Amino acid sequence: MEKDIKALGTIDYPKEVGEVPSGKAPVLSVRNLSVSFKTDEGMVRAVRGVSFDLYKGETLCIVGESGSGKSVTSKTIMGILAPSAHIDSGSIIYEGEDLTKISEEEFHLIRGTKIGMVFQDPLSSLNPIMKVGKQITEVMIINGDRVKKIYKDIINDSLIAYKNDQRLISIAKSEMKYKNGRKNVTKEEKAENKAAFQKEKERVLPLLEEHRKKLAEKKKEGRKAARAYKKKCFLEYADEGLSLLKKAFASLFVGGFTEAYGNFIAAHRRYVSKLRVSRKEAKKRALTIMKEVGIRDAERRFNQYPFEFSGGMRQRIVIAIALTADPDVLICDEPTTALDVTIQAQILELINRLKKARNMSVIFITHDLGVVANMADRVAVMYAGKIVEYGTVEDIFFRPAHPYTWALLSSIPDVDSKERLEAIPGTPPNMLFPPKGDAFALRSRYAMGIDFKEEPPMYKLSSTHYAATWLLDERAPVAKRPKIVSTRIENSLKREEERKNGLR
Ligand SMILES: Nc1ncnc2c1ncn2[C@@H]1O[C@H](COP(=O)(O)OP(=O)(O)OP(=O)(O)O)[C@@H](O)[C@H]1O
Ligand SMILES: [Mg+2]
Repeated sequence: MEKDIKALGTIDYPKEVGEVPSGKAPVLSVRNLSVSFKTDEGMVRAVRGVSFDLYKGETLCIVGESGSGKSVTSKTIMGILAPSAHIDSGSIIYEGEDLTKISEEEFHLIRGTKIGMVFQDPLSSLNPIMKVGKQITEVMIINGDRVKKIYKDIINDSLIAYKNDQRLISIAKSEMKYKNGRKNVTKEEKAENKAAFQKEKERVLPLLEEHRKKLAEKKKEGRKAARAYKKKCFLEYADEGLSLLKKAFASLFVGGFTEAYGNFIAAHRRYVSKLRVSRKEAKKRALTIMKEVGIRDAERRFNQYPFEFSGGMRQRIVIAIALTADPDVLICDEPTTALDVTIQAQILELINRLKKARNMSVIFITHDLGVVANMADRVAVMYAGKIVEYGTVEDIFFRPAHPYTWALLSSIPDVDSKERLEAIPGTPPNMLFPPKGDAFALRSRYAMGIDFKEEPPMYKLSSTHYAATWLLDERAPVAKRPKIVSTRIENSLKREEERKNGLR
């Protein structure tokens, strides 16, 4: 093997390419993530030490053959792994929080409100016997209810009970009588009111103080709900809700009671309605989103069942569902594999359009490099549960460095080449027994002795480009990427040049 490689000539890509994504902080950082599944045959090592960053407004494509761990990686981020799965190591940092460590309830909130997912097969992610409109609104209503529950935990039920306090209602009633100049308000009643009012003031002020302290305490508790979601919208709401309540309480003791009580109730209602989504409002929002994802005649479509939609339209519905919570991150796991080419192009265009309009970050999973070229800002190439190459779309297409990336590039059609497509020889490894060293070595023409013994480190080719192959070691014999790949790159550059010059 080692002899062969010497005969291949020089590695002809530059060592330093690309720019650092400057001034950007990642939205999501995955570090050293390993996930395995317990099966009767043993442990399946599905993901083995994966690390990547996702930046605001970018599309990161994860590309690799079937079984390379793409879906398991995205399901881990979404927190929807099968019960037999185990996260062996690593962290997934989202807004300063490690998603692998937070509670189920907290995860629900992030999944429902911050990270959305679109799966490969729209039919399996839709309920066949529920009208699509209901499937969209249901998600909004469930998320609203969850957020409301957290609000209740924070604000404390006693404060909410306050609005139903019969004593307050009776004070309000008699004050109303008094204000309306009704003669039947006796002197005693007036005095009684005043005393009750004073008593209420004494009761409520410490209550408010207590709530303030409790919130501050919760904030100190590290990962506890209050602090953990401080930055997230529902807590902003909670804060706002609390200050609205405070304001209402304050005015309670300044102006007339009825007015203040009315203010308090109104503030509370306003707040709760922000959290809770009514059916009517959910429908209105669903129709807007249906239009946004390109479903014409949304009002009629709202009341139809999934089977009445074409594949492409169904996938639009699934995307609409993912968008209901207004996510920051959209994970698309092979969203177009089940669709024909024209429809596929439309869905890709839709995702790109939504990404721009909503400034979302997208993780796009595919095994199709053609799709990658159309979608990606950056690319992670996965093989046997690991990222073997990681770079900008230009790095991967014009300066590929890993033999597996070369193999992938050799297998995509090229309009200007008469060369035969090269299928990747052999089969993906069995992850019950992950190969030692470089997992791709068994199928690679470029494998050296060391590839079968030791795992290659990630070599840095530039500030944006990394690859894990021993070929990049300074002790390695020089290797040139396959001719078919070089030809493709040349053709592609030529086409680009012609396009620039208006020849195409
Ligand atoms: N529930 C499970 N139990 C056992 N093994 C699993 C389970 N889910 C996935 N795996 C294994 O984990 C590995 C990675 O699977 P994953 O679904 O992530 O692949 P993928 O890259 O998404 O492939 P595809 O392109 O076919 O969707 C595979 O070896 C698969 O067999
Ligand atoms: Mg998959």
